[in-house]
Amino acid sequence: MKNLLYKRRKFIKKLLYSFFSIELAFLFFDFLKNKKHKNTVDEWYNIGEVDHFECDKFYPFNKGGFFLYKQHDGGLLAISHKCTHLGCAVQIDDGEDGFHCPCHASNFNKYGEVESPPATRALDIFPIKIQGRSIYVNINKTIKRNGFDKSQLTYA
Ligand code: FES
Repeated sequence: MKNLLYKRRKFIKKLLYSFFSIELAFLFFDFLKNKKHKNTVDEWYNIGEVDHFECDKFYPFNKGGFFLYKQHDGGLLAISHKCTHLGCAVQIDDGEDGFHCPCHASNFNKYGEVESPPATRALDIFPIKIQGRSIYVNINKTIKRNGFDKSQLTYA
């Protein structure tokens, strides 16, 4: 009788483990599917008119997770909030001339380039397009980069 109870418990345990394993597999595939979908469908987010933004300032946008930076000559860059070390949200530093990560203290300059580790790669950027005088940021497509160059800027 004791042996039968033991076998039954063992069987129920196996059944539960199988159920949770299958459930985890479904969740994982769902996650991958959503991630893939997110990077393939453009979503152009209208953030306002070019003249609305001052030069040499950062403007945070929580929707999409980026900062708009307008360079002194009007060049625009949409810099991701997400630290390239382990993904924490970076913040505008006190001097307002770059970004600081609160998790492990990486620093980035105003173009998102690494100034101090542990991050080793520049912050990602998002594509920008101008229609009329309006700025649109594609919040579903990040561009990975190692550093900044002028070709990354968008002009009205
Ligand atoms: Fe930003 Fe580690 S997550 S420095």
